[in-house]
Amino acid sequence: MDDLSAPRLLKALVGTRFQHIEVHPSIGSTQTTLVAEGGRDGRVIVADHQTAGRGRAGRSWLDVPGAMLMFSLLLRGIPSDRASRVALAGGVAVARAVEAHTNVQTGLKWPNDVRIGGRKICGMIGELATSGDYVVLGIGVNVGHTPDDLPDELGATSIRIASGTAPRRDDLCASILRELDELVGGDDFIDEYRKRCETIGAEVRVELADGKVEGIATDVRDDGALLVGEWAIVAGDVVHVR
Ligand code: BTN
Repeated sequence: MDDLSAPRLLKALVGTRFQHIEVHPSIGSTQTTLVAEGGRDGRVIVADHQTAGRGRAGRSWLDVPGAMLMFSLLLRGIPSDRASRVALAGGVAVARAVEAHTNVQTGLKWPNDVRIGGRKICGMIGELATSGDYVVLGIGVNVGHTPDDLPDELGATSIRIASGTAPRRDDLCASILRELDELVGGDDFIDEYRKRCETIGAEVRVELADGKVEGIATDVRDDGALLVGEWAIVAGDVVHVR
């Protein structure tokens, strides 16, 4: 198992907004903690293990201690109508960082699962504080898992399984944060998101809180909504049917 080193992270993040980094051997959830506590722009909580990790749509999120990179980051100054774009930027940042550390090509499944060969390596959860003052993005990346850690039916893989090597988790974390630091400041990443997004052009089924939508996903709007037929979907679980 590689160590998660706060000094190594800070050194790699000089010149970015991410200057307040905490590393925990174990925590309930980096996301729950950061959403509840708030803090300065650029605060980051990284953990080796979570006892109450949260996934999207109220699901729990289990980790294999030492194999998964798990962190949450706080951003201030994001207008509430642009908060959902932060999660799209997160997808692009992870895709770029994984490709920089490996020889593999990644793809995105809307809104922000990062995949290799159609199997998930990363999930994200983006939340706006109830005050509307800050956004917290939580990221979990399968880095060092072996096939035994990820039963086939999960539809998941890890960087180690897909590429044969696993980067240090803190190095990967720093690369993701450096990419995000650049992306959240600008407007230009939506086209890159679209190019990387495997959902565009796919036949999809989207499970919504009050029903489901089926059809071909034609585009992702500038505000992050997925277009399926006459529907603009802001939040929901997507299944790629074909
Ligand atoms: C999903 O795909 O359902 C989103 C998973 C998000 C998991 C990460 S791990 C770090 C952060 N802390 C949490 O409790 N969840 C996110």
